[in-house]
Amino acid sequence: MNAPHLSISRGRADTKALKACLFDLDGVIVDTAKYHYIAWREIANELGFAFTEEDNEKLKGVSRVRSLEILLGIGGVLLDDGQKALLAQKKNSLYLRHVSQMRPDEVLPGAREFLTDCRNRNLGIGLGSASKNARTILDLLRISPLFDVIVDGNKVTRAKPDPEVFLTGARELGVLPQNCAVFEDAEAGIEAAIAANMFSVGVGDPAVLGNADFVVSGLQALSAETLIAKFERQSGRKYTFPDTNA
Ligand code: BG6
Ligand code: MG
Repeated sequence: MNAPHLSISRGRADTKALKACLFDLDGVIVDTAKYHYIAWREIANELGFAFTEEDNEKLKGVSRVRSLEILLGIGGVLLDDGQKALLAQKKNSLYLRHVSQMRPDEVLPGAREFLTDCRNRNLGIGLGSASKNARTILDLLRISPLFDVIVDGNKVTRAKPDPEVFLTGARELGVLPQNCAVFEDAEAGIEAAIAANMFSVGVGDPAVLGNADFVVSGLQALSAETLIAKFERQSGRKYTFPDTNA
């Protein structure tokens, strides 16, 4: 992670400026869902039931503990809290074994370029992820230096759609929520952005992300310039190039 690359102006004149972008990790920056799936499938098979890719859709954006509860519900398996804790730990070991093979070219198309584009415009860059493994993943992809702050599952207690993860990101970046744009691939993440009073960009399926301010197929389809134009037009707020000496 980088030291913030700018000093973000908090002056009255640009209380309406776009100053920072907050990114979800899984499904926006990288497709880790396939590794979560393989690990959960191994757990399900061990417990004696099948776990399909369709089932896996229900776990996207959901915390590890809640994911286990959903999985056990699918299999109709009842366990006590101690057994659940052991299984969650085991799933994480399996997951980490799989992601350790991850290579920097697994960053989703356009993500590295878009982050760099935003940094070049002096926008603050934050990660807002439910995953407790977020830092490990960013390091494996070698993109940690592109982030000024990382807010992950170790830092927050309330899951999306609660806005805690994004509000914490804004606070750590030293900007107000109204000056932030959030990038999310899950409906709960868009709801969290709305609850945080942030501009929201859906990344993925418009049918699922209809509540976002706008939706793109992936970060390869967006430039910082277009983002700023949309932010100004749709939120009634104005981007001013942040004053690095403010
Ligand atoms: C989210 C993923 O980002 O992180 C979920 O979409 C995952 O599928 C959650 O369960 C928690 O991840 P981790 O790495 O802490 O088990
Ligand atoms: Mg996601």
